[in-house]
Amino acid sequence: MSTVVIANLQSKSIHCDDKRESLLDILLTETDWMHACGGKGRCTSCKAKILEGMDNLMPRTKVEEQYLELNKLRGDERLTCQACVTGDVTIKVPKETQLPHLIYSE
Ligand code: FES
Repeated sequence: MSTVVIANLQSKSIHCDDKRESLLDILLTETDWMHACGGKGRCTSCKAKILEGMDNLMPRTKVEEQYLELNKLRGDERLTCQACVTGDVTIKVPKETQLPHLIYSE
């Protein structure tokens, strides 16, 4: 059992089993999360800043590496539709992808 914590969304905790699901699939079980291209790796709207547990995510995909090279993704960010979870992670929703109907602490 792993736990995903969204630090700037009232530290919402989402528990998941260790099936190596995408971070996006886990998030969508309990909250809204921007994912403009539907999880196909064609945008960066689903990105999350990883505060803790980067090692508990599967390695970056080719798509993420491309966005990193284009400076569309920072070193501490992952695309939630591409990153599969293998353990506990704490994340933050970047300002640019926050949804208007949710209340974020920063
Ligand atoms: S939803 Fe578009 S890249 Fe993840």
